[in-house]
Amino acid sequence: AVSADEAGAGGIGPGGVVAVVGTGTMGQGIAQVALVAGHPVRLYDSAPGRAEQAVAGVAGRLDRLVEKGRLGKDERDAAVARLHAAGALDELADAALVVEAIVEQLPVKQRLFADLEQVVAADALLATNTSSLSVTAIAGGLAHPGRFVGLHFFNPAPLLPLVEVVSGFATDPAAATRAYETAKSWGKTPVRCTDTPGFIVNRVARPFYAEALRIYEEGAADPATIDAALRESGGFRMGPFELTDLIGQDVNEAVTRSVWESFYQDPKFTPSLAQRRLVESGRLGRKSGHGWFSYADGAERPEP
Ligand code: NAI
Repeated sequence: AVSADEAGAGGIGPGGVVAVVGTGTMGQGIAQVALVAGHPVRLYDSAPGRAEQAVAGVAGRLDRLVEKGRLGKDERDAAVARLHAAGALDELADAALVVEAIVEQLPVKQRLFADLEQVVAADALLATNTSSLSVTAIAGGLAHPGRFVGLHFFNPAPLLPLVEVVSGFATDPAAATRAYETAKSWGKTPVRCTDTPGFIVNRVARPFYAEALRIYEEGAADPATIDAALRESGGFRMGPFELTDLIGQDVNEAVTRSVWESFYQDPKFTPSLAQRRLVESGRLGRKSGHGWFSYADGAERPEP
């Protein structure tokens, strides 16, 4: 056991209610993390029935942890009893922290936080899980942007320890510290940064994908060869092509485009035409059964 100050004292506290808005892939993962850390968790999604599905999804994932012996049955039952679907945004009124994981569109996120400001207490922390939008811009229209932070989890959130805690232009350093300490108390490895396009990881990763795509476009090597070279000698678990097939070619291209545009089209971040053609053809990666590699018939290994 760790002492209170090591375990994130200064965070929202173990009894603090965590609300998660947007209960897709990331929202469910973040909800699971907060739940297992002991918080009461409320889920809200604008699509009817989606929050209830997410409650069932999280409960199912906890069941699998019990089967694998990584969570006690009693702990699982107590966690599920703390998890509730909210039918409306005003049911999130008692949240100490709201984490937003909705669609990656600036006006939609701005609208949501303007509505949330009317609902939550003045000292509630507001956080976005955005991958590629400006934290500063999302908070731009808020009456109290000081308590707004980026809390950027990685997929799958229950497994990957890193969380980027992003301070926007108006973020109060005390709010960023609260978010950091909260993530730490959840067993995560938070890192702090300011609001740079792509934050740390998605920005540093751009040239990893971009140079691999250029090598391919020049005809110097094919995707399987480039992936193998990086796996075998670069220490990467996956090469850039199989990794973007996992992420989704459309998602990966959108992040590249967003970083490129944020830097006023700096050629260093220019998106790849080969990747654009792949997206246009509908080869989005694993989720469409075909990207740089084929995943037809549930193939375990990608086939060129
Ligand atoms: P998703 O598409 O799986 O889920 C989004 C959910 O938000 C859907 O259930 C949708 O009904 C709901 N939603 C949309 N508009 C809403 C609104 N106005 N109010 C309430 N709910 C609304 O998306 P995913 O992949 O979970 O991504 C969510 C956020 O997390 C995005 O900002 C994305 O950039 C970010 N992110 C995604 C990662 C990933 O690998 N998928 C990794 C890290 C961050």
